[in-house]
Amino acid sequence: MKTVLTGIKPTGELHLGNYLGAIKPAIDLSHDKNNKYAYFVADIHALNNDAIRKEGAINELTKKIAAAFFALGLDTERCLFYKQSDIPQITEMSMYLMNETSKGLLNRAHAYKAKVQDNVANHFDPDKGVNMGLFNYPVLMAADILIMDTDIVPVGKDQLQHIEITRDIAQSINSQYGEIFKLPVASIDETTMVLPGNDGRKMSKSYGNTIPLFSTEKQLYKNIMKIKTDSIALGEPIPTEGSVVYTLFKAFLAEHDMVEVKKQFAAGVGYGNLKKLLYEVINNDLNDKRLKYFELLEDPTYIDSILEKNKEIVRNQAQSKLDLLKDKMLNH
Ligand code: ADP
Ligand code: TRP
Repeated sequence: MKTVLTGIKPTGELHLGNYLGAIKPAIDLSHDKNNKYAYFVADIHALNNDAIRKEGAINELTKKIAAAFFALGLDTERCLFYKQSDIPQITEMSMYLMNETSKGLLNRAHAYKAKVQDNVANHFDPDKGVNMGLFNYPVLMAADILIMDTDIVPVGKDQLQHIEITRDIAQSINSQYGEIFKLPVASIDETTMVLPGNDGRKMSKSYGNTIPLFSTEKQLYKNIMKIKTDSIALGEPIPTEGSVVYTLFKAFLAEHDMVEVKKQFAAGVGYGNLKKLLYEVINNDLNDKRLKYFELLEDPTYIDSILEKNKEIVRNQAQSKLDLLKDKMLNH
């Protein structure tokens, strides 16, 4: 039995890209009864973002992520779902790991390096806007992973480097103090598509082009109508290549249901009609889930009870790993 662990940062309202690229794959994965699952909201990670920290809505966003996972069908019996800040052992462990992490390793971490390069290009101080939370981010992430004896970490490609750093830290500790940590491997699903936003670029809150996962039906309709499309005369076939509307159909429909959609594109039924159909398709998929989501948020007793129950379980497990590390590092 392997432990599969992943974290999601509460840094904004969830959108369709988060749903199809991260949440749905994680839930689908957890249907395999042969493994154990630990999914958590990485709320301390969100704090290194100055704008988000200032907004002060991290707890609210955390609840929304929990509600989304539960409404989308996560089996909370099989999967431990928890909040990072509920587990003080993680931050404590990160302090021990830091002593085994060279600064050079963190200088090369993408998020930090990109910020420095950006500053240099703009003739600013290289470390402008860099807080130590951001710089140490990969060490906290290593603690998230190692403290739970994780085997597999499903993540997007951009996170691969963080898993490599985690392995480096774990290897360095194991080679000095004995086999304390498992060496986790990243699992990257190459088939997961990058969902485009309403302007054709990757859907991302940084581009302001998102379609929220849970909004009212009316808002969803409006958002779909807003998708930028070429003006093509009625009756003219609509190209599927590079079409955002087509890509969204593909993301939500099974292969056999795409046959009819392809016909409609070829027949040139017009983008207005295609968008209406797309709305029906997406709304059908999300209808019940949306109801459940808002119900869970309206009375958060269920969400709170799961987080509370798992807090104890995870703290206990994390404490034994932390005790082992402390013992080896302080007493050997
Ligand atoms: P954003 O780009 O909106 O800031 P995040 O970086 O917080 O989103 O992404 C959270 C998770 O959702 C990551 O696992 C990421 O790979 C996934 N994700 C985000 N946008 C998309 C997208 N457009 N298509 C597929 N997956 C996405
Ligand atoms: N860094 C991840 C992201 O930006 C989130 C995350 C934090 C994470 N800790 C983790 C993912 C541990 C996997 C395992 O998406």
